[in-house]
Amino acid sequence: MNDQGEFYALQSLCGHQNLPLAGGKVWQGVIDCPWHHFQYDIRTGENLYPKRIYLLNTLPKLGEQISPLCIYPVRIVDEQVQVEVPQACESG
Ligand code: FES
Repeated sequence: MNDQGEFYALQSLCGHQNLPLAGGKVWQGVIDCPWHHFQYDIRTGENLYPKRIYLLNTLPKLGEQISPLCIYPVRIVDEQVQVEVPQACESG
């Protein structure tokens, strides 16, 4: 994805219910899942919402659903966006 001229690549499925993040709005470094509005930092994959809003120790099921998204290194070569997909998931 392209956010203000910077390119990022991250896993395509949301940690909440494994639904596609495709079509989610990106704004100021945050992608908003189009299904139930979980939000992730596109640079680190960190869950920002609901993680920063709810007390997760009181909602154990939610705690399982907010793991960070995998992020993938991106580089631009001859005006092409290249994404490296490593064997193991990286996050923040
Ligand atoms: S599937 Fe993304 S918020 Fe529910």
